[in-house]
Order: sequence, then structure tokens, then C-alpha cells
Amino acid sequence: MSERVLIFDTTLRDGEQTPGVNLNLTEKLEIARQLERLGVDAVEAGFAGASRGDFDAVEAISREVRAPIVCSLARCVPADITRAAEALSGASRPRIHVFLASSALHLEKKLRMTQSQALDCAASGVRLARSLCGDVQFSAEDASRSDPEFLARLYETVISEGASTINITDTVGFATANEFSRLVRTLLIRVKGIDRVCVSVHCHNDLGLAVASSLAAVRHGARQVECTMNGIGERAGNAALEEIVMGLHTRRDYYGASCGIDSTRLYVTSRLVSTLTGLEIPPNKPVTGANAFLHQSGIHQHGVARDRSTYEVMSARDVGAPSGNAPLGKLSGSHAFEETASRLGFTLSKVELETAFQRFKELADRKKDVTERDLITLLSGRWVDVPELYHLESYQLFAGNTLTPTATVKIKHGDEIITEAAVGDGPIDAAYRAVDRITKRETRLESYAIRAVTEGQDALGEVTVRVTVDNGAAALGKGASTDIIEASILAYVNAMNRAAWS
Ligand code: KIV
Ligand code: ZN
Repeated sequence: MSERVLIFDTTLRDGEQTPGVNLNLTEKLEIARQLERLGVDAVEAGFAGASRGDFDAVEAISREVRAPIVCSLARCVPADITRAAEALSGASRPRIHVFLASSALHLEKKLRMTQSQALDCAASGVRLARSLCGDVQFSAEDASRSDPEFLARLYETVISEGASTINITDTVGFATANEFSRLVRTLLIRVKGIDRVCVSVHCHNDLGLAVASSLAAVRHGARQVECTMNGIGERAGNAALEEIVMGLHTRRDYYGASCGIDSTRLYVTSRLVSTLTGLEIPPNKPVTGANAFLHQSGIHQHGVARDRSTYEVMSARDVGAPSGNAPLGKLSGSHAFEETASRLGFTLSKVELETAFQRFKELADRKKDVTERDLITLLSGRWVDVPELYHLESYQLFAGNTLTPTATVKIKHGDEIITEAAVGDGPIDAAYRAVDRITKRETRLESYAIRAVTEGQDALGEVTVRVTVDNGAAALGKGASTDIIEASILAYVNAMNRAAWS
């Protein structure tokens, strides 16, 4: 019989602490709904006491996401704990997650607390949280660099105050997988009352060991893993959810544990988080990277053609990744389109389906074969769709290595069609300056990235930009087209619309 491991997702809390990532409420809700479909056991929706934005996110997710536990982080500080309880009041399964540093380094340098003060502080924090919520988790921050004797006393204290989950952290990704799993095993033996609670682990990836340490801990008795989609998070990030899940699944013989995740939704969830955070997935990323199921060498291709398991330990289908199935084309009907979208893990309303099918038809007019990768790019476009204050009607360019690049851009704004021309350092710069003249916004292009979705001359190009508009927070914009200049302008206009809407 395999043991059940709980998947605690912290994409919206620790993941959102990734430098440059700033999700708005609608985006957080979209991710939380997808995490629910994926089957996570707990969603850490934010740190309610940290900001108004986090409070609103925890409150809104608590109201909408009913199956998983919804959790808010809180320091062992009364104001944080009461704020967390308030934000979680509408949740069907609320959890308050209190934390306190346990290492001598953090206690002395950061908190200026003695060990005995830390024990009192953790006890009163958990007591207060427990008086407000039936489900309380306690994390000892920097546990892997703490004195194990003290750590054991700290966990005993919070268990006696009513914590039902204790989280063992490798906050700075310092421990080796062996050391970390040994710590888990030692605590499982030493801490009185630990058999009554769930033992969780939370590992960071500073030395590339977050997944290895988390899985080693499962092998030695941990029953909850904290992780984020695509491994995003502070510094080098957290343990990647998709790798934990497929590790457990593929090596059930070794770990003796399974989880409740629908693995066929991993790919689409990974794409959603990448799209909304603007953090690209590296091609060699395990499980969800573009190359994860590609075979380049002839020997490998030959082996896979004979039997996939020669060079694959899991299949693209297991994780919902594009599998190079027969492409769709101009003549494909809405039924085939809907069937493919659903197989790829997209849940679309009737209206969303109609709009997406229309876009697919437009793409199929320009491109002979529409592959699953193209479809994923097209369908994920709706995640960044917002009401179109500005809509690109057309553009013209004069450019060449002996010409000053000049762009003329026509944009629909309400009932008005506005046309402006501008010159620039290159064709894209010229087009962006023309858009700025139309919108009359002060902008700064923070980043620009382009990627080819598929190979070939008619490949779809996807552009991602980050633009600061009127000195506000940088807005993300995406655009896809077989014409890369058009994709670039669409991405820029999308960023303008998103800045106006947020
Ligand atoms: O890394 C860490 O220690 C944390 C805790 C707050 C759980 O994120
Ligand atoms: Zn963390």
C-alpha cells in the first residue's frame, strides 16, 4: 500500500516572492482555480498581514476555491495572525501558517531573541492561531541550520499548543539531500507527539537540491511537500511541484508514496504560471520544458521508435505535454478543435471556445499545419486577455540597413481610429514609439523576449514584453503571430491594455 503525500502549493506566496513577479488579483484567482483543478491539497494564497493586495488575494481565493485547504502565512505576531484569520473567514478549509526562525544565526542577528524567548513566542503564536482556526501549521524557518535539540523542543512546544502540521525547512537550500532527510528522520524519532501531526518539508533550490531533498524526506517519512509550479520563488526558487509529482509517480516503487495530483494537467498549469508571471520555462526544464520529450540523436530516435521506454521514463501524455500528434489545419472543425483543447488540459467556457476557434481559423489561414504547440500558445493567449482599450488595426514599416526605420501604426481606441508614424532605432522601436504617440503614455520598455513556438518558415513567434507605463508597476504583455513584428506590436499593445485595466 502506498502512503499518501499531500501537495502544498505555495506558488502564490513563496513563488510570488520571485524578483520581478507581481500578480494582480485576477491572475492569482486564475492560478488558484487551476491549482484546484490540478488537485493540490493546499493552496498558500498569500501573506495576509503583509499588504492589502495579499489580504485581498487570500480573501478572494478563500471564497472561490473550495476543495483544497486555503492557507495564509503569518509571523508569530498577533496582528499578522488575526489578519490571516480575517482573510480566511470565508474559506471552506482554512489554515493559518505561522512561522518563526529557529537557527542561532536568525535568532541572534535577525530577531534578537534568545531560544527561550523563541519558545514562548512560537507557543503564544500557535495558541492564538489555534483559537481562531482549527487548522494550524507551524514552520521553523532555517530549520536545516538549527540545533536539532532546540528544533525538537520547538516542535514539541507547538504541537502541545495545537499545531496539526509541522514544517521542516531548508530555507537557504544549504543541506544535502542526505543531511536533510536524516534531520527529518531524527525529528520523527525525537519529537514527542509528532505521530499526531503531519510532517511537512519546504526546501529552497540555492544549490539545485530542492526536489532531491524533498523527495529524500518523503522516503524518510515526510507526508507533506511544499512546492511551487515551475519551481519559482525567492532567489533560486523552491522545489518544483511538477518534478515532485512526477518523481513520486515514476518512482513509486522507491518512495512508496503517491499524491492526488492529476498529472495530465501539469503542462497546462506550468504554462499558465509562466504566462502570467512572465518567467519563461527553460527548454531543458524537467517535465514541462520544450525539450523534455524530444529525442535528437539518431540512436535515441531509433530506440524510441521501437519502444518509448528505451529513452523515456514518463510520457508526454502523462503530463499533458504536446506529443506531436496529427496537426490541425484549415479544414479542421470546431469539434476536433474542442477535443484537442480539452486533451491539452484547457477548460474553456462556450464563449471562450468560440473566440479561440475564431483565432485558430485566422492562424490556420496563415499557417499550413497548426501543431499542438501552436494551439497551446493560442489558447494561453486568453490568460492575458483584458478588455481592449486599444486594438491594433494595422501597421506599415519602412526599414532596411540603409534606411531610417519608420513605422505607421493604426489603432482603434473606442470609436476612434488613430494613426501615427514615428522613426526609431529599429523597426520595433519605431512601431513602439508610434504606439506611444497614440496612447500618449510615458513608457519604458523593461524587457523584450521572443521565442519561436515551432520550427519552419511559417512558425508562430511569441513575444513577451514588460513595460512600465506612467511610472506604475511594470505591465506584462504577450503577442503571438506568424509575423514577428506584428507579434511585437500586439505584445506592446497588450501591455498598455493590461496597465490601464489593472
Ligand atoms: O523558506 C522558508 O523558510 C519559508 C517559511 C516561511 C516556510 O518560506
Ligand atoms: Zn520559503
